[in-house]
Amino acid sequence: MNPIQPKTAARIDDIAPFHVMDILARAQALQAAGHDIIHLEIGEPDFATPAPIVEAGIAALRAGHTHYTGALGLTELREAIAGFYASRWQVAVEPARVVVTPGASGALLLALGLLTGPGDEVLMADPGYPCNRHFARFCEARAVNVPVDASSGFQLTLDLIERHATSATRAVLIASPSNPTGTAIAPAELARIHDWCAAHGIALIVDEIYLALTYDGTEHSAARWDDVFVVNSFSKFFLMTGWRLGWLLAPAWAMPALERLAQNLFLAAPTPAQHAALAAFAPTTLNILESCKAELRARRDFLLPALRERGFVIPVAPQGAFYLYADCSRFTSDSQAFANQLLELAGIAATPGVDFGSHRATRHMRFAYTQPLPRLAEAMAQLDRFLQT
Ligand SMILES: Cc1ncc(COP(=O)(O)O)c(C=O)c1O
Repeated sequence: MNPIQPKTAARIDDIAPFHVMDILARAQALQAAGHDIIHLEIGEPDFATPAPIVEAGIAALRAGHTHYTGALGLTELREAIAGFYASRWQVAVEPARVVVTPGASGALLLALGLLTGPGDEVLMADPGYPCNRHFARFCEARAVNVPVDASSGFQLTLDLIERHATSATRAVLIASPSNPTGTAIAPAELARIHDWCAAHGIALIVDEIYLALTYDGTEHSAARWDDVFVVNSFSKFFLMTGWRLGWLLAPAWAMPALERLAQNLFLAAPTPAQHAALAAFAPTTLNILESCKAELRARRDFLLPALRERGFVIPVAPQGAFYLYADCSRFTSDSQAFANQLLELAGIAATPGVDFGSHRATRHMRFAYTQPLPRLAEAMAQLDRFLQT
C-alpha cells in the first residue's frame, strides 16, 4: 500500500521561512570547508549567560526543580519581574499582571491568541520582526504591514495607524527599539497611540525585548499604562536566548483568559530556567549585563559610521538593540543576491531585508553587531576589498 500523506493546514503555506537560515546554513558550509566567516546575521548576542544565572540554573536542577510550575510562572519570579519595573523604569506593576512565558515568542502568541481571530486585523510596522505576521496568521487573523521609513524613525505613528485602521482592527503592535532597525518610538507619539487605542477599544501590544538595550536617551516602558500588553524577554539584555524565557504584562481583566490559554498552549515556562532567572536581577548579574551592554554600544558606535562611510545609508541612528538596518541601494537593487555575494566573496554573513517585510526590502540589509570589535574591523576590511572589485 502506498501511504497517502495527510494534507497540511492552509496556514502552513503562508508561514515563510527565514532567509537568514539559508545564509546561516551556507555560512556554516563555507566554514566547514575552511573559510573564515564573520557572523553578523543572527539576532542573538555572542556573550554567554552570566555565571550567577548559570549557577542558579544548575542549583535548581540539583535541587529537583524539574516539575511544572503554575501556568503563570513562579510567584517569586513574577514578583522579581515586577520589582525590575520599579527599580529600572520607576513603574509600579502588580505581580499578578505578570505571565512568565517561553520567550517573548510565547508572550506574543498569548497576546495575539487572546485578542485576535478569523478576519481580525493587527497593525504592525514593515520592516518589522517577521514572526509577528506569522503569529497573527496562526490565529487566523491578518497582519496589516504598514510601511514605515526614516521620517518616523521606522516606527508606526498615530497618523499611519488612523490611515490603516478598519472596523476589523483589533490590535496595534509596536516593537521599540525595533528589530531590524534598532530605532525607538518617541514617548509622546506612543502616548498619542495609547490614548487613541484606549478610546477605540483596540489593544496596544508593545514589544520591549530591546528596551533595556537602549544606548541613547531614557528607557521609557509602556508599562506605565496598565491597559497595555507589554512583551519582554530574558533573551537579549539578560543573554538567555536558549533558556526560552520571557514575560507578558497584561491588563488585569485579561489574566484569567491568559492563564487558561497558557495552561493549554504550553502548561508553563521551563522550570529550571525560571529558577535561573531569579538570579538575573541580582546586582552582581546586572553589573555583568551592563558591561556587555556597554560593549554592544561601543560596537554600534564603530559599525554605524563605518557602514555609512562605505556608502550604506542608515538615515536614523539606532538608539538600541544590536542591529543596523542599512539601505544598500548604492550597490544593488537585490539585497538577497547582495547578501549571497557578501558571504561568498567577502566572508560576511548578514541578513537580507526580505526577512523583515516587503517595504523596500530588496534595498536593505540587516547587520547584527554580535561580534567583538576586532571582528567588526576585519569585516570592514573585507568589505573594502569586496567593494573595490
Ligand atoms: C522584536 C522581537 N520580539 C520577539 C523576539 C523573540 O524572542 P524570544 O522568544 O527569544 O524571547 C525577538 C527575537 O529576535 C525579537 O527580535
